[in-house]
Amino acid sequence: MEQKEKRGKFKGSLGFVLAAAGSAVGLGNIWRFPYLAAKDGGGLFLVIYIVLALTFGFTLLTTEISIGRNTKQSPLTAYGKLNKKFSFVGVIAYIVPFLIMPYYCVIGGWVLKYFITFLTGHGSDATKDTYFTGFITDKVSPIIFLVIFLLICAVIIYKGVSGGIERTSRIMMPVLIVLVVGIAIFSLTLRTKGEDGKIVTGLQGLKIYMVPNFEGVTVKKFFLIVMDALGQLFYSLSVAMGIMITYGSYVPGRSHLVKSINQIEIFDTLVAFLAGVMIIPAVFVFMGTDGMSAGPSLMFVSLPKVFASMGWIGNVIGALFFGMVLFAAITSGISILEAIVSSLMDKFKMSRIQATVFETTIALIIGIIVCLGYNILYFEVKLPNGSVGQILDILDYISNLVLMPVVSIGTCILVGWVLKPEFVINEATRNGEKFGRKKLYIVMIKFVCPILLLILLLMSLGLF
Ligand code: PHE
Repeated sequence: MEQKEKRGKFKGSLGFVLAAAGSAVGLGNIWRFPYLAAKDGGGLFLVIYIVLALTFGFTLLTTEISIGRNTKQSPLTAYGKLNKKFSFVGVIAYIVPFLIMPYYCVIGGWVLKYFITFLTGHGSDATKDTYFTGFITDKVSPIIFLVIFLLICAVIIYKGVSGGIERTSRIMMPVLIVLVVGIAIFSLTLRTKGEDGKIVTGLQGLKIYMVPNFEGVTVKKFFLIVMDALGQLFYSLSVAMGIMITYGSYVPGRSHLVKSINQIEIFDTLVAFLAGVMIIPAVFVFMGTDGMSAGPSLMFVSLPKVFASMGWIGNVIGALFFGMVLFAAITSGISILEAIVSSLMDKFKMSRIQATVFETTIALIIGIIVCLGYNILYFEVKLPNGSVGQILDILDYISNLVLMPVVSIGTCILVGWVLKPEFVINEATRNGEKFGRKKLYIVMIKFVCPILLLILLLMSLGLF
C-alpha cells in the first residue's frame, strides 16, 4: 500500500503527452528520418511512414501505455504481474534501456559539444573534415561531455516524475517545436547560385523531399522502403524498451488514453517531418542532391558545412539547431534513465536516489568504455546485418535490432493471444471513452504486428 502511494504521477494529460513525446522525439527524428526519406523516394517514404504510424505505431504505443497504466509497474515487474510465464519479456525490456543509456549519453555529449562550439562562435571549426573524427577519437574530451550530459539527466530523474520529467518536458518541448518550425521556415527561404549560374532554392529541395519519386521502384525496393519506414517508426516511438510502460504507469486513471496517444503520435511524426523540411532544403541548396546521401555523418559533418555556407548567420542558426537537438536528446535520455530507475525501485525497493546513483554510475562506466572504443579500445567488428562497427554500434545492434523486436513480439503474443486484445481495449476505455480503431487494433496486435516484427528481426540477423 505504502509503495502505491509513493509512486510518482504526472499532474495532467498534457504533461504526460509532452513527456512521452519528449521521449519519442529524439536523434531518430532529426537525423535519421530526413536521411531515410531522401534515400527512399521522398513523398513515397512519407506516405508509407504515415500509414504505418496510424496502424502499427498506434497499436504498439496503445498496448505499452495500457500495460503501464493497468499494472502500475515498470517493465521489469509489469510483465510478470500480468503473466508469470512472460516475466522474461520484462527482463529483456529492462536490459534494452540498460544497454542504450550509456551510448545514448555519449551521443548526447557529442551534441552538447557541437552546441557549445556554435554558441561560442566557433562553428567554422566544425567544417573541417577532421573535426568530428578528431573529437570522438580524443581520449578526454568526449568523456567530459558524456559526464555533463549524464549528470543533467540524473538530476532531472532524481527530481522525480512531476517535479523532474514533467516539468522539464513542459519547458523543453514547446521551445523545441518553436525552434523546429522557425529553422524549417528559414531553410525554405534559402537560395544560392549554383556552379552553372542557375539559382538553387530551398523550395526546390522541398519538392524533392515531398513529391513521391517512383523512379526505379521495383517490388523488392518497395518492400525495403516499407521495412526502412517500419524500423524507423519502431525506434522513433520509444516502444519495446519499457519506457512507454513506465510512463504509462504514471498516467492518471481519469485521462483519455486514446486521445493522448494520438497526440503523441502526431507530435512525433510532425517533428520528424519538419526535421526534413529543415535539413533537406538546406543541404540541397548548398551541397546539391549528393549532400543528402551523406547518411549517418549528415548531422555532424555535412550540416556544419551547410551552416558555414550561410555566412555569419550560420553560427546563430547552428547554435539554435544544436540547442534544439540537445533538448530532444535530453528528453529522450531522461526517459531511458527513468525506465531503469523505476524498474530498480519497483523490483528491489530501492529509493529514487539510490536507484539514480546506482544506474548513473554504471552508465558512466560503460559510457567511458564506449568513448574509449574510438581510441584505446578501437577494433572493427562485422555485424550480422553486414555493417562494420565499434563498441557503440555493437550495443546499438544488440539493443535496437535484436532485443527490441523480441520484446515487442513477446508483448504482441501476451496481449493478442494470452490476455486477449480486450485487456488493452478495456484499459483504454475505462472511463467510457471511444476506441475508434478497435477492429484494426485486434487484427494488428494478433497478426500483422508480430509478423512484421519477425521479418524485421530476421532481417537484422541477416537471415532474410
Ligand atoms: N525515440 C528516440 C528517437 O526517435 C530515440 C530513443 C531511443 C529514445 C531510445 C529513447 C530511447 O530518436
